[in-house]
Amino acid sequence: MISLKINGQPRDVDTSPDTPLLWALRDLLGLTGTKFGCGIAQCGACTVHVDGEAVRSCQLPIGSVGERAITTIEGIGATDAGAKVQKAWLDLEVIQCGYCQSGQIMSAAALLAHTSNPSDDDIDAAMAGNICRCGTYVRIRAAIKKAAAA
Ligand code: FES
Ligand code: FES
Repeated sequence: MISLKINGQPRDVDTSPDTPLLWALRDLLGLTGTKFGCGIAQCGACTVHVDGEAVRSCQLPIGSVGERAITTIEGIGATDAGAKVQKAWLDLEVIQCGYCQSGQIMSAAALLAHTSNPSDDDIDAAMAGNICRCGTYVRIRAAIKKAAAA
């Protein structure tokens, strides 16, 4: 049994420590807002926060998380940066098909939590690992700037 802290709640999962966090979230804990895209840390669809840092949960063994706090898309709205990002996303109707957007929001929220007024270069650096097949990049950038100004 492995104990995790997810969105402020203690959660136990009965699986191997090698299990990627993404699998534990989706298949064992029912937190399906975090998406599977590539499975090899290349697309960003599976992004969550571990102690406030954006990480690719498809490549993170749950046995390596320890006491660190995990935040998923289901919990990010409870944070100041996450709430601003989610509102800006809705105001600017960023989402197209939606598949990549949990990861996009998690990366944007981590950026704003660390950098309250990000430059274009800051946004490029923070969001470079999040792929959107629908090409919503222009609206994502605008929404990050709107959230930063809120
Ligand atoms: S599913 Fe993890 S980065 Fe693509
Ligand atoms: S909104 Fe469709 S992949 Fe990004």
